[in-house]
Amino acid sequence: MSAPAITIPQEKHSKIHAPAPKTFSFPNNSFLKHSLLFVILFISLLIFLQYKALQSPLHFSWPLLVSRLSDQDLTSRLRNSVTFLPIKDLRFSKQPESGHTWFMSSVNDTFEPNDSEYLYFPSNSSKGRVLCLSAHDRHDGGKNLYAFAWREALPHGATLLPGLTYVSDTYYDHSNLWHGLNAIVPFIGWNMRKGCTAPARWVLFHWGELRAEMGKWVKSVAQMTIGNVEIETFEGIEGPACFEEAVVFRHNQGAMSKARVREVYDRIRCKAREFCKVEMEKIRDKKDVQMTLYLRTGARSFKNESVVVRVFEEECRKAGNCRVKVEKTDNLSFCDQVRLMSETDILVTPHGAQMTNIMFMERNSSVMEFYPKGWEELAGVGQYVYKWISDWAGMRHQGVWRDPEGPPCPDPTDMLQCFFDFKDRQIGHDTAYFSKWASKVLQDMKEFKQSISIKGEYSSATSTSSCQCG
Ligand SMILES: *[C@@H]1O[C@H](CO)[C@@H](O)[C@H](O)[C@H]1NC(C)=O
Ligand SMILES: *[C@@H]1O[C@H](CO)[C@@H](O)[C@H](O)[C@H]1NC(C)=O
Ligand SMILES: *[C@@H]1O[C@H](CO)[C@@H](O)[C@H](O)[C@H]1NC(C)=O
Ligand SMILES: *[C@@H]1O[C@H](CO)[C@@H](O)[C@H](O)[C@H]1NC(C)=O
Ligand SMILES: *[C@@H]1O[C@H](CO)[C@@H](O)[C@H](O)[C@H]1NC(C)=O
Ligand SMILES: *[C@@H]1O[C@H](CO)[C@@H](O)[C@H](O)[C@H]1NC(C)=O
Repeated sequence: MSAPAITIPQEKHSKIHAPAPKTFSFPNNSFLKHSLLFVILFISLLIFLQYKALQSPLHFSWPLLVSRLSDQDLTSRLRNSVTFLPIKDLRFSKQPESGHTWFMSSVNDTFEPNDSEYLYFPSNSSKGRVLCLSAHDRHDGGKNLYAFAWREALPHGATLLPGLTYVSDTYYDHSNLWHGLNAIVPFIGWNMRKGCTAPARWVLFHWGELRAEMGKWVKSVAQMTIGNVEIETFEGIEGPACFEEAVVFRHNQGAMSKARVREVYDRIRCKAREFCKVEMEKIRDKKDVQMTLYLRTGARSFKNESVVVRVFEEECRKAGNCRVKVEKTDNLSFCDQVRLMSETDILVTPHGAQMTNIMFMERNSSVMEFYPKGWEELAGVGQYVYKWISDWAGMRHQGVWRDPEGPPCPDPTDMLQCFFDFKDRQIGHDTAYFSKWASKVLQDMKEFKQSISIKGEYSSATSTSSCQCG
């Protein structure tokens, strides 16, 4: 009688073994027969396991023949394999702001429509790993380090900080009103899109150097818009700090769309008024125009304030339904400034940091700006920042006046010294020009106010909708 035929299943995907014959004829010897059967079964089992192994993500070949790493060994190897890189990559020193930037240069930005480029961890871009920082240095970004690690295998001595961390790197700084604002705007946008919950902490970098503080004004804006600002300085943390979740912005407003930037400014304005308990219905008149002269003392003050005030008072009187308020920039609290800007339709003010507050004005309100001699030629693009902010926040920048008079530059060969000389000078006046200019801006504003009171579109951006999350 003939021996039974064993059919070895054809393995479609397995490319490792040679084609097996379909049938075997067994010799008549019973011992040999059984041994052969056993060997064939064993080989089939190995082939089957190999086939399974190839399908699984870990390509262990011949698992029965290779000693397997214990979970502990594997975790230990992963821990030791975490690679720390300098947070400031000097290979990008010629392009510290563009592309990857020199900050965490190994990671590509994530782009989402209308938003600033960002990095988020853990995510696919980090293969599910969390961000770890070993970053105590406040003078050299090259000495601060970053790495990615799996939560189950954090580097030795690491501390896992729970919750969401905002990590900000800016080429400028977090203290100056203008630069600080630009650094926090993308976080406000992010916060709005993610349900408006405050992060557990902020980590601040300037050129990759750790910073312990935000400017007072910048912090106030962050605090009332996003919530409590806790700045992490890693004091008392010996080893690396790893973050359960972290979002990193390193391009300021970057690729944010104009509409998104405006939403952020609407939210800042609304939250500031809410925080400062500004009641718009009480402080603003539907018909009357308020012209505010917001004057500096010392650097960039008007040489003859009383003459300047008189010119604007006169034009206001002529226009009718108009009042003038004169305020000094020093000694106004944050909320005093929010209130003053909220009630102002037309702001008359010399160029200076106090102008960052124009974002608290209603949309469509007007700004008139004044410079001392020498700025146009010497100050570079920085002199236009308040025109930009007007544009972003929805104000109407109605032009500038530049003082043509004053002593010449002491040494025209040294332009930098020249600018220092001009920078903080006082500002003169041109009463004829001021009158004409004020009259025009007042007329525009009166027409605008009439149009909105007819259409009932009063205080659009004040409506509580921009204070709500969504
Ligand atoms: C980053 O993007 C560049 C160009 O798009 C690409 O070549 C590179 O592989 C990316 N790097 C990572 C880590 O994804
Ligand atoms: C981006 O902005 C444009 C124009 O405002 C808008 O049409 C589009 O829906 C926005 N996309 C997202 C994803 O928000
Ligand atoms: C991450 O990768 C997984 C698997 O490749 C994919 O299914 C998922 O959509 C990715 N998530 C994002 C946010 O890209
Ligand atoms: C300001 O100008 C007025 C009118 O020209 C003049 O009477 C006054 O003395 C000036 N004040 C100062 C401080 O120069
Ligand atoms: C501002 O306040 C300080 C201290 O509170 C005071 O010394 C100074 O005189 C004030 N300046 C003005 C212009 O009111
Ligand atoms: C107010 O300004 C915004 C831009 O900030 C503009 O879209 C809007 O039409 C203006 N409103 C009126 C009533 O003119």
